[in-house]
Amino acid sequence: MARLEDIRYVRLGTRDPQGTDRYLQQVLGLALVRHEHGLRYYSSDERDHTLVCFEGDPSQQTVGFEVGGTDALDAAAGVLDGLGIAVRAGSTAECEQRRVQAFVEFRDPSGNGVELVVRPLHRGSARAGPLDAGITGFSHVGLCSTDPARDERFWVGALGARVSDRIGDAALLRIDEVHHKIALFPAARGGVQHINHQVAGIDDLMRAWYRLRAAGVRIVFGPGRHPTSGAVFLYFLGPDDMVYEYSTGVRTIPVDQEASYRPRQFASAPESFCMWGAVPDIEQFRSTLT
Ligand SMILES: [Fe+2]
Repeated sequence: MARLEDIRYVRLGTRDPQGTDRYLQQVLGLALVRHEHGLRYYSSDERDHTLVCFEGDPSQQTVGFEVGGTDALDAAAGVLDGLGIAVRAGSTAECEQRRVQAFVEFRDPSGNGVELVVRPLHRGSARAGPLDAGITGFSHVGLCSTDPARDERFWVGALGARVSDRIGDAALLRIDEVHHKIALFPAARGGVQHINHQVAGIDDLMRAWYRLRAAGVRIVFGPGRHPTSGAVFLYFLGPDDMVYEYSTGVRTIPVDQEASYRPRQFASAPESFCMWGAVPDIEQFRSTLT
């Protein structure tokens, strides 16, 4: 079994690279660190980049995770191959694009594009963008799942994720101490369901709520608090109908509690998504938010 060490980036196709660039820098609060070969690289923390956008079909979405080294990468590729999943190793040029030593790409059982990378570059300090939204870093993704029980078995069995909690059949999966880095959402097709950045505190989150509303950005859920992770959250709509989330105060499961931790089962009910009574205002979120 492979083991994911960290979530690293999302790569997104967009029909409007300039409009998306404005949004990511001036509305979301990321820093543009590079623009080359038609790719824009954005930073949210000390990692070289955590979001990449390129002109293309918005269904072109990939999530990158770090593994421990080339041996771990080879082991992961072997496990995936054994499951009948097609694995492709990235070329030298593709590795240079991603600032990684090596990577492989594949699709999870719902068709979500995934890359496993080795030794991705760090910068060592965060790069400030034009807007200080209080972002402390890219933290998790929601992934649409056509069969959450099957996909939970895949992410746990093949890639070493652990279940922190379940809402109905939808699992919140951790790969390190943070309560979840992957959330599986029941859906008719695969895709990135939302992209989360942590902010430093509730003041940043509430400032964002006023700022986003004043800017005409559609708020789709929150402010609220997840009873699962304990995080205070705000979800809002971005270009190409991608949903972005700010949250703060996510629970951790420390290493010394890892062995004894038991996933909790939450009802598939609105109060499992927000303990303050916030209700999602778009259909794709109503049944499946975490
Ligand atoms: Fe989330």
